Amino acid sequence: MLIACMSKYQSVRGTRDLLPELKRSFRLIDETAYKTAQTYGFSEIETPIFEFSDVFHRSLGETSDAVSKETYTFTDRGGDSITLRPEGTAGVVRSFVSEGLAQHVPLKLYYYGPMFRYERPQKGRYRQFYQFGVEILGLESALADVECLDLAWTIIKKLKLSERCILEINTLGDVQSRNRYRQALVAYLTPYKTELSADSQVRLEKNPLRILDSKDEGDKKIVANAPLMENYLNETSKKFFDDVQQGLKNLNIPYKINPKLVRGLDYYCHTVFEFTTTELGAQGAILSGGRYDGLVEMLGGPKTAGVGWAAGVDRLADLCAVNLENQKVAPISFIANGENALKEAVRLASLARNRNQYCEVFLTGNFKKKLEKANKLGTSKAVLIFDQENGSLEYKIKDFTTGEEKAATQAEAEKI
Ligand code: HAM
Repeated sequence: MLIACMSKYQSVRGTRDLLPELKRSFRLIDETAYKTAQTYGFSEIETPIFEFSDVFHRSLGETSDAVSKETYTFTDRGGDSITLRPEGTAGVVRSFVSEGLAQHVPLKLYYYGPMFRYERPQKGRYRQFYQFGVEILGLESALADVECLDLAWTIIKKLKLSERCILEINTLGDVQSRNRYRQALVAYLTPYKTELSADSQVRLEKNPLRILDSKDEGDKKIVANAPLMENYLNETSKKFFDDVQQGLKNLNIPYKINPKLVRGLDYYCHTVFEFTTTELGAQGAILSGGRYDGLVEMLGGPKTAGVGWAAGVDRLADLCAVNLENQKVAPISFIANGENALKEAVRLASLARNRNQYCEVFLTGNFKKKLEKANKLGTSKAVLIFDQENGSLEYKIKDFTTGEEKAATQAEAEKI
């Protein structure tokens, strides 16, 4: 009976509570990312976590897994079909169009928040997960792709993860190149149709490029000899990809070309990329994105180029856990012995906190226990306050590194 009650109130499958330790990692990642993005001239945007379902159906494509299998969609009380956002780009572009932001291009935006996908939960894959993302709107140049990648690489370096992941890039070319390639790929795959996995048989009709990154072993064997995109690129597409690579070399950003990288969302053209790690099992992509020049028009706006990426903060946090451990800040502790001393400790800590100092005051326990707690928290310095028999207070300042204690005045304790 008790077990049944407990399970009823567990968090929903695929969601998790960000308890203080984990939340601290999330916060540090978000802070590192947005402070770095600001140095590249990006500004923050926040869009709602739900949109009319059409926003995602139009932009991600009906055949993308995100839309066909993974959306949280419901009809609201007014009869509208609403979807919890599975990613951030569609909402940013919807906002760009509906808020008339086209007159302000080029725009460089970043965002952070929860996304929702009904995927099979496993390590590194959640149904509510968090992305930090960036989008550049209105820049056609390959240098915008390079700037995006440079920003991603700088953040990864600041999080000390550069040794633990690799940038994979590919090009999907422009519409003309992609259509030619699509035809060649379908011609190659059609004779194998019955041998393909059930999912890939559907994709062969609707979205054959997705078969290239199928995880099915049988599909992988068939795909191994498939024609390659690079042989179907027209001059414009070839030059664009060359320019991106030149830009990466210029900035010493290491990368590897992965000709099978196609990405799951339909809106991409030209550059697609993923930073991957082998340390998180099957869910190795920690940051991914690409160029999406047709998306603004698709959502009813003027022809506008776009490029961006999103990082999976849950996955970064799993990787960073060790790196972040020694970034804890040491408090100043206020340790009271006696009732009046405790009131004074609360007052002194408030003064220091108003100067942005991190302080701890221990409201319970005896004096010895309080000293132990302070030590455990890594206290650097403490103010010790004692009730005196005559009703006055005595102050001491203790240096926790040397263990040295010396008498202090109230004025000194106020300024610590
Ligand atoms: P995405 O590849 O679908 O792209 O997601 C970006 C990142 O979010 C992934 O690399 C991964 O780290 C993380 N992620 C995705 N699904 C999950 C999940 N179920 N659990 C945990 N983490 C997950 C996009 O979302 C595009 N909007 C990126 C973009 C921005 N393209 C252009 N601009």
